[in-house]
Amino acid sequence: MKNSGNTIILTGGGSGIGRLLAQRLHDAGNTVIIASRNIAALANTAEGYGNIHALELDQTDPASIEAFTKRIADNFPQANVLINNAGIMRMEGSLASKRDLADAEESVTNNLLGPIRLTNALIDQLVAQSDAALINVTSGLAFVPLVLAPTYSAIKAAIHNYTVSLRAVLKDQVEVIEVAPPALRTTLTPGQENNERFMPPEVFVDQVIDLLQRDPTPAEVLVEEVDFMRRAEKEDRFEETVAAINPFLAKS
Ligand SMILES: NC(=O)c1ccc[n+]([C@@H]2O[C@H](COP(=O)([O-])OP(=O)(O)OC[C@H]3O[C@@H](n4cnc5c(N)ncnc54)[C@H](OP(=O)(O)O)[C@@H]3O)[C@@H](O)[C@H]2O)c1
Repeated sequence: MKNSGNTIILTGGGSGIGRLLAQRLHDAGNTVIIASRNIAALANTAEGYGNIHALELDQTDPASIEAFTKRIADNFPQANVLINNAGIMRMEGSLASKRDLADAEESVTNNLLGPIRLTNALIDQLVAQSDAALINVTSGLAFVPLVLAPTYSAIKAAIHNYTVSLRAVLKDQVEVIEVAPPALRTTLTPGQENNERFMPPEVFVDQVIDLLQRDPTPAEVLVEEVDFMRRAEKEDRFEETVAAINPFLAKS
C-alpha cells in the first residue's frame, strides 16, 4: 500500500484503534475520513489534525451507508483506501441453554453485515482509483474462538474468509489487507482498557503502521502477540490454544 498521499476512509475513528490509526496515518501524510455514530468523539480525534475529517455513519443502517457513500462521492471522490475497523464485542454467556439472541443478532448486523454493505457501497469507487487498498480489521479470535463471545469470534472468522475472497477477486485492482489484532487495552468491552495482560493500543498501532509501510505490504498484518493464534492450526496445537485462551473450560 502507498505510504502517503492516500485519502483513507476509516470506520470507528472516534476511539480505540481507529482513533490512533487515524492520527498516525494523518501524520504519515494521508487525508483521513473518520466515520462512526458519535460525532463528538470523531471531532475529538480530528482536533488539531488538519487533514482528518469527521463524517457520521451507522454501519448497521443501509440508509446511513447510502448517505455516507454519497457524501464521499461528492466531497472525496479521490478516496482510494477503505479501512473497515468499526465494530462491537458482546460477551454472550453460555450456549448450553436457550438464551436471548439480541446481542448475537446485533453483532451480526454490525460486524458482519456492516463491512459487507459498506465495502459493496464503495467498491466501484475503490476499483476506479489507482493505488486502491481495502483493509479489514478482524481479530486473533478469527482463528481461535473465545467461547464466551462465540458470535463475535465466528463473525471475525467469516470476515477473515470474506477477505480472502476479496483479495482473490480484486487482484491487480485493489490491494486487500487483513489486520488481526490481539487483545488490546481499549474500551471494546467493559474493563478491557485496564487489563494489563492486554497489549497497549499505542504499541500495537505503531507496529501496524510499520507493517503497512513495508514494501510489499503483508496481506495479513500480524503482530507477535497474535501469531500464536494465527498459527495454532498449522502448527498442530489448535485444541491446546483453545484451552489456553478459555482457561475456565478446564474448571467446568
Ligand atoms: N480491542 C481489542 O482487543 C481488539 C482485538 C481484536 C480485534 N479488535 C477489533 O478492532 C476494531 C476496533 O476496536 P477497538 O478495540 O478500537 O474498540 P472501540 O474503541 O470500541 O472502537 C470501536 C469503534 O467502532 C465504532 N462503531 C461501532 N458500531 C458502529 C456502527 N454501527 N457504525 C459506525 N461505527 C461503529 C465505535 O464508534 P461509535 O460507537 O461512536 O459508533 C467505535 O469508535 C473492532 O473491529 C474490533 O473488533 C479489537
